[in-house]
Amino acid sequence: MTWRATVLTLFPEMFPGPLGQSLAGRALEQGSWSIEARNIRDHASGKHRNVDDAPFGGGAGMVMRADVLEAAIADCADDRPLVVMTPRGRPLTQAVVAGLADGPGVIVLCGRFEGIDQRVIEYRGMTEISIGDYVLSGGETAALVLLDACVRLLPGVMGAAESGVEESFAHGLLEYPHYTRPADWCGRAVPDVLLSGNHEAIATWRARAAREITQERRPDLWAAYLAQTQPTTIKTKGSAS
Ligand code: ADE
Repeated sequence: MTWRATVLTLFPEMFPGPLGQSLAGRALEQGSWSIEARNIRDHASGKHRNVDDAPFGGGAGMVMRADVLEAAIADCADDRPLVVMTPRGRPLTQAVVAGLADGPGVIVLCGRFEGIDQRVIEYRGMTEISIGDYVLSGGETAALVLLDACVRLLPGVMGAAESGVEESFAHGLLEYPHYTRPADWCGRAVPDVLLSGNHEAIATWRARAAREITQERRPDLWAAYLAQTQPTTIKTKGSAS
């Protein structure tokens, strides 16, 4: 069955955007997934079709209205999970992506302005997702990131060559570095072991490189990796500390 993405946005022309190209674009053409971008403003009423209003309690910026958003959601809601892209959300991880890719698809709400009326998020039990600790001008680019990460995991989308089995995060580690011809470039040689043809030695080198680079660049991932791979030592009475 086709994995379906519905995007609720004030800028539907931003989709599929880059997802119409390359791997995701081919998969879209082949019907492995579909995308429908719906304009939230179609559900606004009144002469000005306002989708936002001033925040209760005062302050800068505007807030997206719960009634308009609920009308947009009600028009497309089904068994798919509902997510809203916001810098206040839980961090997007490969595990979150894999969970979404494993389901029927996703409905993604893209925030703009200062924020979204919290009541509609709670009323619909939406999952708030952030793609990182920085603020984008809207949720659309974050939605593109989320969908890209999901689509490449769909069955048949990645060829054997692009297979994600050994990629970063799949085992909780960053990936080892890659090299190709020429073996000598600008006075820099490729690590000897990679030219040795010794598959076991290569696998050992790569595993070590992945551990080293994770330890150096991402102490947070490294700590989680250690916690998950090393059995917890339980201190017993009288044992050395
Ligand atoms: N909207 C604005 N910034 C965002 C972020 N970092 N992640 C998700 N949605 C956003």
